[in-house]
Amino acid sequence: MTLEISSRDSNTKVILLSEDDWARYRDIRLAALAHDESAFGGNYDSESEFTESTWRQKASQYVGILAVIDGADCGFMTVENLKGDFGATCWVGSCWVDPKFRQRGVLRSLFSFVDSLADQRNWGVQGLGVWVDNSGAISAYENIGFEKMGEPQESSRKAGMFYQRMIRSVKEAS
Ligand SMILES: CC(C)(COP(=O)(O)OP(=O)(O)OC[C@H]1O[C@@H](n2cnc3c(N)ncnc32)[C@H](O)[C@@H]1OP(=O)(O)O)[C@@H](O)C(=O)NCCC(=O)NCCS
Repeated sequence: MTLEISSRDSNTKVILLSEDDWARYRDIRLAALAHDESAFGGNYDSESEFTESTWRQKASQYVGILAVIDGADCGFMTVENLKGDFGATCWVGSCWVDPKFRQRGVLRSLFSFVDSLADQRNWGVQGLGVWVDNSGAISAYENIGFEKMGEPQESSRKAGMFYQRMIRSVKEAS
């Protein structure tokens, strides 16, 4: 499924990836880890060893949303359906925009696309976790309509690191 969204200074195409798009899903996830591993719970060395069947399993559980500008895959996030904290109906992960395309509304376009499918896919109350010291991402999420919820939680994957939960409801988001 594809949606063309007019973002601030370019035409961004946003695509819902299927399991068969696993190689595209893999490539942008590994690019995210190569550039910004400290922003995520995963790590490049282990994910670069994943097999096709692992990527296919990831792509079906954590649905990939991809932003494309002028043919370049430049922004990514995943959405998993679950009953999460604070009434979340889905959990967003792996948000990343290629540094060359930041501050141009790509993340906002990814969320507009998810919002357009909210009723159909039960994506109306979106939750995520972000490291407490990732102030740039926290500001971006707040501008898009997320609110901080609850106390910081310690990561089970990265001991000693804490994440902030944030929630956004589509009907209340700007
Ligand atoms: C966080 C990130 C995904 C934002 O992507 P982006 O495409 O640059 O975001 P957008 O351009 O859509 O910005 C959305 C809003 O947030 C604001 N914003 C974006 N980055 C910001 C920053 N670093 N500091 C403050 N505000 C920021 C924008 O100005 C915009 O606000 P506005 O529309 O009200 O003017 C991107 O910086 C990134 O990939 N960072 C590294 C990986 C990361 O930290 N991921 C989060 C893991 S939880």
